[in-house]
Amino acid sequence: MVEGPADPLERQARLDAIAAEVRACTRCSLHRTRTQGVPGTGPVTARLMAVGEAPGENEDRLGRPFVGAAGQLLTELLEGIGLSRDDIFITNVLKSRPPQNRDPLPEEVAACAPYLDAQIALIRPLVILLLGRHALGRLVAGAPPISRCHGSPIRADGRVYLPVYHPAAALYNGGLLATLRDDFRRLRELLDELEADRPAPPAGSAGPSGLAVPPAEATEEGRPAAAQQLALF
Ligand code: URA
Repeated sequence: MVEGPADPLERQARLDAIAAEVRACTRCSLHRTRTQGVPGTGPVTARLMAVGEAPGENEDRLGRPFVGAAGQLLTELLEGIGLSRDDIFITNVLKSRPPQNRDPLPEEVAACAPYLDAQIALIRPLVILLLGRHALGRLVAGAPPISRCHGSPIRADGRVYLPVYHPAAALYNGGLLATLRDDFRRLRELLDELEADRPAPPAGSAGPSGLAVPPAEATEEGRPAAAQQLALF
């Protein structure tokens, strides 16, 4: 698995190589039922990364994440805080669709873990937006339930995570939509705070520097290995 160079062109090439690996992946049995792998979309220089659960029917057919109804809501929520989807790297915990959109199995999460870990290490986003409980559970060991921690930034492994309800949840439960909009406003504030704190890149540098953080060690279950010190801001 690939990760880590400084040059954005080299990082983009490695991100593209991961995408090719995902499309050819047979690491778990989902490759037998999927139409195609869905690696993720967006530039390696993205300051924001959004991680969902797994491709659904539309994503499986089109090969891109969040292109169905939940994706439309995600796009609207991002645009509502002045962000364009094109500037964000969007991906999922699982890169292949589970049959009938059932929950990811632990062995599937573990099989896919190296892809997501390598994408994060290459992109080095300022903020990782965790869309729903599966993304939260995959990336933040020991996190509280999403009902308790949504909208509150979590610092762990030298990274900054913002858990929010999955947009699909707001499609089924309209009462969550206002909460989701509030949490996206918090995302805007958080990005602004972190951008303001970020040291200016040296004159003549090739591109955005990002957070220099080591990738988390993943266990067999695809969770970060060490017990984490969670710090809610
Ligand atoms: N839901 C997800 O979690 N991911 C997608 O890509 C689409 C819907």
